[in-house]
Amino acid sequence: MPKRIPEPTSKPKERCILVGVELAGVNQRLNIEDSLEELTLLAETAGLKVVGKVTQKLDKPNPKTFIGKGKVKELQDLAEEKLVDIVLFDDELSPRHQRELERVFGEHVRVIDRTALILDIFAQHARTREGAFQVELAQYEYRLPRLTRAWTHLARQTGGGGGRAGSVGGVGLRGPGETQLEVDRREIHRRIDTLKKELEKVSAHRERYRARRKKSQIPVVSLVGYTNVGKSTLLNYLSDSKVYVADKLFATLDPTTRRVKLPNKKVVLFTDTVGFIQKLPTTLVAAFRATLDEIVDADLLLHIVDITHPNVREQAKSVFETLKEIGADHIPVVTVLNKIDLLEEPSVARQRLIQFDKAVAISAKTGVGINDLLETIGDELYSTYVQIDMLLPYQEGKTISLIRNYGHVIQEEYVDGGIRLKAKIPGRFAAQIKRYAK
Ligand code: GTP
Repeated sequence: MPKRIPEPTSKPKERCILVGVELAGVNQRLNIEDSLEELTLLAETAGLKVVGKVTQKLDKPNPKTFIGKGKVKELQDLAEEKLVDIVLFDDELSPRHQRELERVFGEHVRVIDRTALILDIFAQHARTREGAFQVELAQYEYRLPRLTRAWTHLARQTGGGGGRAGSVGGVGLRGPGETQLEVDRREIHRRIDTLKKELEKVSAHRERYRARRKKSQIPVVSLVGYTNVGKSTLLNYLSDSKVYVADKLFATLDPTTRRVKLPNKKVVLFTDTVGFIQKLPTTLVAAFRATLDEIVDADLLLHIVDITHPNVREQAKSVFETLKEIGADHIPVVTVLNKIDLLEEPSVARQRLIQFDKAVAISAKTGVGINDLLETIGDELYSTYVQIDMLLPYQEGKTISLIRNYGHVIQEEYVDGGIRLKAKIPGRFAAQIKRYAK
């Protein structure tokens, strides 16, 4: 009987070469090796196979091809030798660089940059309508000035789950004297308009929800941090829920909120948000504005860092930069040094702890240190509470029970006309009921 040849179970991975450039006088957050290491993780997350890396030191980018002429030749030879499908640049390419490089590499090798790759990963991971719209919009805005070939090429360029942006391809009927490129541009503009309108509707809904939550007295703790540090794992541990956790960059894209009871019996809301990364494309920061705005509403930020990562300080700096960019740098921060279960030498944790202002070392996987963390959160939130002394009429039963649930009652006395309460409660709440102040 002839032997059956097994069917391939999955599509072969596309092969790519990474290109990193060290520009003189440009102070890069990560050195070139570490930045390419991170790009490798991003590429793998997007389902690519990295088969080579090329680097170059330059005084300034070549106006045409970003890298020098000789490097381009070296890259072409390597691409041929290693049967490469994609050349991936660590820096954002200008539309001109992109066009020129595409011309050089021809039909069979695609040229993309870090931004396009991150957009692709985001497209694969968006799960809510809002997330998907935001990414699609960012993809179109990124692509519009780079549109050089007819749509067929673009549709191919989206790859993987990022195929959304290709879905309108071929829809447009060509008007008199229009080239395919013009038709494509017109289609993209139309789709951008539709997406913006859809997003406005979704954002209005989110705004109403945010306004309701702002009015509520439950303190909000936002988890922030570099991608892959363990934010979702921590949220899962805290709430026993199953928020998506994966050893992939940007597994979480859409904000998730969970109610958690602290050891002091007070309830708080924890929200998990998109991970940050160095060179986070500005198009994306803009696209995710609504999502990132959730952070700005928080009473406390938990800055999660991966203690085992060699670039922990640089990662922390990138996070603070993004927080500043979105106007969240005034919110109190507790630093959470995660993954201590992976440390062979516990003294590393102690050394790191003293480098941060308020820090707790934990393992979100095993639960070590979580109680300490919850107590610290309780203390921190409590320190921002304000003291009240109020006479609340008996018919204000709802407010009274809210104070009991979310505040810390110091003294309670039944008197004529109501209950006199001395308590510490969240500032936001105190402002709403200040009319009862004694
Ligand atoms: P993004 O969605 O990219 O922002 O990632 P994230 O910060 O939410 O990270 P996530 O929780 O998805 O965890 C990333 C990886 O780290 C997963 O493989 C987790 O299992 C692992 N991880 C998280 N916390 C710990 C920990 O305390 N110890 C160990 N050993 N692994 C951890």
